[in-house]
Amino acid sequence: MEPVKVGVNGYGVIGKRVADAVRRQPDMQLVGAADIAADYRTRTAQSLDIPLFAASEEAAVAMSAAGLAITGSLDDLLGAVDVIVDCTPKRFGAANKARYDAAGVKSVFQGGESHDLTGHSFVAQANYASALDRQSTRVVSCNTTSIVRTLGALKRAGLLKRARGTLVRRASDPWEGHLEGIMNTVIPEPVIPSHQGPDAQTVMPDLDIVTIAVKAAHNVSHLHTWCVELTRAAEREEVLDAFHAAPRIAFVRMADGLAALNSTATLMQDLGRPRGDLWEVALWEDGLAVQGNEAFYTYQVFNQAIVIPETIDAIRAVTGREREAARSIDLTDRSLGLVSDFFAAPADAPA
Ligand SMILES: NC(=O)c1ccc[n+]([C@@H]2O[C@H](COP(=O)([O-])OP(=O)(O)OC[C@H]3O[C@@H](n4cnc5c(N)ncnc54)[C@H](O)[C@@H]3O)[C@@H](O)[C@H]2O)c1
Repeated sequence: MEPVKVGVNGYGVIGKRVADAVRRQPDMQLVGAADIAADYRTRTAQSLDIPLFAASEEAAVAMSAAGLAITGSLDDLLGAVDVIVDCTPKRFGAANKARYDAAGVKSVFQGGESHDLTGHSFVAQANYASALDRQSTRVVSCNTTSIVRTLGALKRAGLLKRARGTLVRRASDPWEGHLEGIMNTVIPEPVIPSHQGPDAQTVMPDLDIVTIAVKAAHNVSHLHTWCVELTRAAEREEVLDAFHAAPRIAFVRMADGLAALNSTATLMQDLGRPRGDLWEVALWEDGLAVQGNEAFYTYQVFNQAIVIPETIDAIRAVTGREREAARSIDLTDRSLGLVSDFFAAPADAPA
């Protein structure tokens, strides 16, 4: 069968990772990436042999002037693909949708766009089936993806009653640290609930959830703390088993020296992961506590990478290339190398 032909529009934090992940899928072909930047970002795409397309006429002029070899325009890219993944800055995608539709190309958007743009918000393990053959879907944001993965795991185990979480958000992404960010303060978001709770309800409408968000002065990913009321009194092991059974949640332990966000980020680099990416929700196994019918836990959301596996699955769902969520998730996770525990003993290890 022919591979699914994929284009990426916007080769930034998310777009460059989507492009890499597409190139690792046996059933997909990356046709190219479009952007407007004519600097180190698009130069990198070129040096990685990714065909480069100019997303505007001005960009074509600037890219040519910078010595970049352009394969064509965004319309040329749309003419050559089955699906386009829009990774332009938030709210830019909304203006692009009509163009994608007119070209007869399926589209996958990111969490900076509104749910209304596509009428469908996507987290693979929660609602893959309802995205099948759609014209477009929106992969929810990094924080929302983590919420749906973890609360979805508790729900599938029949343990979830209601959830209240606090999100400590990073100030900026590392590449733009010189442009924006805050220093020596923590800023509470003015509105409670913060948007991530309602956003999770676009995927799991019956979630009883409230989120509070604060922005802190660091750029090494987000941290969540959760208090969850369970449907009944449970053992700690039951809650851990529910998380362990779900894909894309990986246990980390304070006892391994993984004491903070920077420790886990360093581990990803030391393991040789591309760009030091952590695609899983990293949940502190030895920090999880259960008291009667309440569970309390903390996890890390590596915002730059967590939505990449979901985006790959969204491509398979909207193109109908794989009809079973579990098979797509498995293929994506094996191709990228996701784990459920960074230091678990191999299953066949001698006792
Ligand atoms: N950064 C994160 O942690 C993160 C996490 C999850 C989801 N998202 C979402 O992913 C989307 C992309 O965010 P990002 O962080 O990758 O942004 P980014 O700023 O890192 O990258 C955006 C890229 O799009 C390019 N671009 C700008 N205008 C363009 C245009 N008109 N046409 C084509 N390309 C254009 C920029 O040059 C840049 O390379 C947003 O919806 C965002 O909300 C971001």
